[in-house]
Amino acid sequence: MTLKVMKNVIFTALATVISFFGIKKIANNSHKIKRIGHRGVAGYCPENTFPSYDRAIEMGADYLEIDVQLSKDGRLVVIHDSLVDRTTDHKGKVSDFTFDELRKMDAGSWFSTKFSGACIPSFEEVLDKYADRVGLLIELKKPSLYPGIEKMIAEELKKRKLDSKGKDHIIVQSFETASMRLFHELMPEIPVAILINYPPDKMEIKNIAKYASYLNPKWTVVNKRVIDLIHANGMKAIAWTVRSKKEADKLKHYPLDGIVADYLDLIE
Ligand code: G3P
Ligand code: CA
Repeated sequence: MTLKVMKNVIFTALATVISFFGIKKIANNSHKIKRIGHRGVAGYCPENTFPSYDRAIEMGADYLEIDVQLSKDGRLVVIHDSLVDRTTDHKGKVSDFTFDELRKMDAGSWFSTKFSGACIPSFEEVLDKYADRVGLLIELKKPSLYPGIEKMIAEELKKRKLDSKGKDHIIVQSFETASMRLFHELMPEIPVAILINYPPDKMEIKNIAKYASYLNPKWTVVNKRVIDLIHANGMKAIAWTVRSKKEADKLKHYPLDGIVADYLDLIE
C-alpha cells in the first residue's frame, strides 16, 4: 500500500467516525426531553412570579409553565388557584378583584420573606418579558369560568406575532377539552394540549388527537401503553409535575417529549 493510499484510508476512516458521531449527537439533541419549569420553579420561588420565571431561565428551562385567569375587570392575569388565599396576603376569588387590586397584593411573602413584594403578573407582561427568551406552556385554568378567554389569549399572541414564532414555541393547554377545541379553531398554528390525571382509553386518545398536538399525563398515569398510544396517534406527551427524585426516576424509563417540574434540577 502506498503512502498516498494509506493516507486516503485513514482520512476516510476518520471522516466516517466524525460523521457517525456528529449525526448521533444531532439525533440525540433532536430527541432531547424538554425541561419545563412549573409556574417558574415553584420548588424554589413563589409560583407564577417574575423571580420564579427568572430563576427557571437561569436553571436552563426550555419552557415556563404558567396559569392564566381573568380579573374582575377582564384583564388576563397569571395565578394558579381560583382563590388568592394560598399565594397572596389577601382572601377571595381572583375574579372578584380588579387587576389593580390584584397587582397590589403581595404574592411572595407566603413563600419566604426574601420574596416579599413579588406581584401577580399580567399575561401581557409575561409574553413581553419572556416569549423571546424561552418557550411558554400556557394553561387556561378553569376556562369555562371565563367565557371568551380563548379569544383574548389568541389576540395577545397574534398581536406579538407569536403564531409565527416557530413550531411549538408556544403551547396552550387545559383540562377542559371544549376550550382547547375552540382555541384550536381560533388559532390552528398554535399547538394545543389536553391535561389528564387518569388513564385514558384508546377512543378518548383518538378523539383528542383530532385537534390536539399534545396529551399531557400526570406522572402517576405515565406507562408504556399510554405513551405509545399518544405517539401512535401523532401527538406528543409532556408529563407533570415532578416534585421528587423518585418521580423523576420513574419517568426516565419512558420516551416522553417533556417533563414539567417544580425542581428543574431533578430532570437530566
Ligand atoms: O402543566 C401541568 C400542570 O401545571 C397541571 O396542573 O394544577 O399544577 O396547574 P396544575
Ligand atoms: Ca398549571
